[in-house]
Amino acid sequence: MAQLINGKEISAKVKESVKTETKEFIEKTGVVPGLAVILVGDDPASKIYVGNKKKACAEVGFNSFEHILPESTEQGELLDLIEKLNHDPSVHGILCQLPLPKHIDERAIINAISPKKDVDAFHPANVGKIMIGDYDFLPCTPAGVMELIHSTGVSVGGKKCAVIGRSNIVGKPMAMLLLHENGTVTICHSKTKDLEKECREADILVAAVGRAKLIKGDMIKEGAVVIDVGMNRDENGKLCGDVDFSEAEKRASYITPVPGGVGPMTIAMLMKNTLTAAKLSLKG
Ligand code: GUN
Repeated sequence: MAQLINGKEISAKVKESVKTETKEFIEKTGVVPGLAVILVGDDPASKIYVGNKKKACAEVGFNSFEHILPESTEQGELLDLIEKLNHDPSVHGILCQLPLPKHIDERAIINAISPKKDVDAFHPANVGKIMIGDYDFLPCTPAGVMELIHSTGVSVGGKKCAVIGRSNIVGKPMAMLLLHENGTVTICHSKTKDLEKECREADILVAAVGRAKLIKGDMIKEGAVVIDVGMNRDENGKLCGDVDFSEAEKRASYITPVPGGVGPMTIAMLMKNTLTAAKLSLKG
């Protein structure tokens, strides 16, 4: 039976260390790290995420600035707000909650955020820096996944890693971070010929597709580390991941639960990035 990877506990430790470092940083510089979070529209899931981010800021001693805009907000108005926040010295990190309403070009918004305040690490300049391994920020979810893998004591070096999903937010950067630690990485997606085979060969499996219980127990290699980024509803409306947990835990060595695995790590890493952004702001 697999050992559970407790994301709640590990994220609490990350936040605790950010809190300690923030206190020292404020004492030394007088600067209080500030995170601006923008939410356009009233998607219920996004509202919960934004609320959790605000709560985490208070926990670690940051200022947070919420900008809740109506669904009808025009792209130009959003760009104007971002421009204002780019120049606001009390704001060190800017996060625009995705997805945005269909009439707004997500790429244009991401590109408008100053790379120095881009705590999501979605700006092309930051994506490029990650690619070459010389970065200020790592995207929060993949960075959180790496922390969870490290917590198991299993080293990535030389291991076969399968990343299921190729999104810009998770799959692609995830593959890069595993590669940086010398994993042999396969990225799987909807056109992958034999997903079962690719999964079954993986010592480390990261599932990030957004399809409830896509990864069945018999697709897991005996003793694999299984990280489930998915957050879906099953046929009974219950929260579940991309991995069929009850089957997979019989074969994996370590596995993350949903909820309580990757989710809390994403916010903890956002706090870490915001502190980094505040430090960067003093470097000019
Ligand atoms: N929507 C879902 N995940 C994320 C994330 O990590 N950052 C932002 N900005 N939006 C998201």
